[in-house]
Amino acid sequence: MEISVNNINGLATLKIIGRLDTYAASKIAGQITQELEECGEIRQLVCDLEELDYISSSGLRIMLGLAKKYKNNFSIIEANPTVYQVFETTGFVKLMKIEKALRRLSVEECQEIGKGGVGVVYRLDDDTIIKVFREGTTMQELKNEINMAKEAFVMGMPTAISFDIVRVGNQYGLVYELLNAETLSACLKRNPERLEELAKLYAGLFRQLHSIEVPQGSSIPSVLENEIKAINHIGRYFDQESLDILMEIVKSIPKGNRLLHCDLQSKNAMLQGDELMLIDMGEVGYGHPLTDLGHSYSAMVTLLGDYASIIGLPQELAVKLWHRMIHHYFEGASEEEITHRIHQIEVVSCVRAFSWLSLSDSFPEEVIRMCQDAFKERVADRKDYIKQICSTFGDWEM
Ligand SMILES: Nc1ncnc2c1ncn2[C@@H]1O[C@H](COP(=O)(O)OP(=O)(O)OP(=O)(O)O)[C@@H](O)[C@H]1O
Ligand SMILES: [Mg+2]
Repeated sequence: MEISVNNINGLATLKIIGRLDTYAASKIAGQITQELEECGEIRQLVCDLEELDYISSSGLRIMLGLAKKYKNNFSIIEANPTVYQVFETTGFVKLMKIEKALRRLSVEECQEIGKGGVGVVYRLDDDTIIKVFREGTTMQELKNEINMAKEAFVMGMPTAISFDIVRVGNQYGLVYELLNAETLSACLKRNPERLEELAKLYAGLFRQLHSIEVPQGSSIPSVLENEIKAINHIGRYFDQESLDILMEIVKSIPKGNRLLHCDLQSKNAMLQGDELMLIDMGEVGYGHPLTDLGHSYSAMVTLLGDYASIIGLPQELAVKLWHRMIHHYFEGASEEEITHRIHQIEVVSCVRAFSWLSLSDSFPEEVIRMCQDAFKERVADRKDYIKQICSTFGDWEM
C-alpha cells in the first residue's frame, strides 16, 4: 500500500496504490491528511485510483472525508471496474464525481485509414475505428466532441455512433462506429463526373442539419459565443480597428437556434451507399445557418495553407463543388439572390478565416505572417464593403 501527492499550482493529485483494506486504511488515513496539509494550497484535488485494486468500507470513509473537506473540488478518476462497482452499489457515485478507468488500447497492429488536423484515425476491427488525438489534447476537448456527436445523433443527424474515450499510450482516443464509406472528397476525386449529384447531396446534408432546431437548455453551445471568444483570443495579431470589424460581422448575424456543424468541408462528410453522413463533430453548436456556410466557405474556397491535404481535393474542383452545393441549397432562388447570399457568406467567412488562430498559441511565425497579409487584403482594406454587406444580413430569414 502506497500513496503519493503531487501538487502543481494548486491542482493536486493523490495517488493510492495497492489494496485499501481495513488494516491499510487505518494506517494510511493519517498519512494522507498529513501529506495533503504539507503540499501547499490545494484548489482542486483529484484522487487517481488507476493502481488501486480493492477498497473496503474504511477506505470509502477516507474518500468521504476528502469529499467533505474539498467539496466540489474533489474528484476520483481511473477507478477500475471492481472498485467502481463498490462506488456504485454504495451510492457514492451520487455523492462525488467518480470516473471509471479508461480502456487501454494499442494501435500498433491497426491500419491507418484517415488523418485530420487533430488526429489520426485507425481501423480497430470490422465495426469500429479509433481517432487518436494529438498529444496535448485535453480530456475536455474529447468530452466535447463525443457529447456533440451523441447530441447531434439523437437530434436525427446521420453520423457515426460514438462509443467511449480510451487511452492509447499517453494520448487519448475516441472510438466510433466504422462507417462503410468514403469521404465526399475521395469520392469526387475518383468520379469528377458525379459533381452535380454530389453537390446536391452536400446541400441536402446542410439543409437537413439547418432544419433542426436546438431546444433551449440543451448542452449544445452557442456558436456566436464561441466566435466572440475566438476573436478576443487573436487580438494580439491584428489592429483593434480591424478586429472590431470581425466583431461587427459576428454581431450582425441574426440570432438563430439551428444545429450547425461549423466545419462541414468535404473531408468531414462521408458517403455510405447513397447517404451522406457527418463526421468530426467537435465544433457543433447552434446559431444561424449563415455562420455554418461561412465556415464551409472559408475551408472550401479560401483556405490558407496546405489545401490539397486538408480538403483532400484540388482547389479548383472543391470550389466548383461548393458553388454547385450553394445553388442546390438555395434551390428555386434566382441567380441574383444566390449571388447576394454568396456575398454575405463570403463576408462571414472572414471571421473563421482568422479565428482558427485561436486554436493554438504556438503557430510558427510564417503562418502568422501569412494570415496577417491575408487579413489586410480581406478585412482591413475592405472595411466599408464589409459594413455595407453586414447591414443586409437581416434579410436572411430561416
Ligand atoms: N467513423 C468513421 N468511419 C470511417 N472513416 C472515418 C470515420 N471517422 C473518420 N474517418 C476518416 O478519418 C479522417 C479524419 O477524421 P476526422 O475528420 O474526424 O479527424 P480530424 O483530425 O478531426 O479532422 P479535421 O482536420 O477536419 O479537424 C476522415 O476524413 C475519414 O477519412
Ligand atoms: Mg476532419
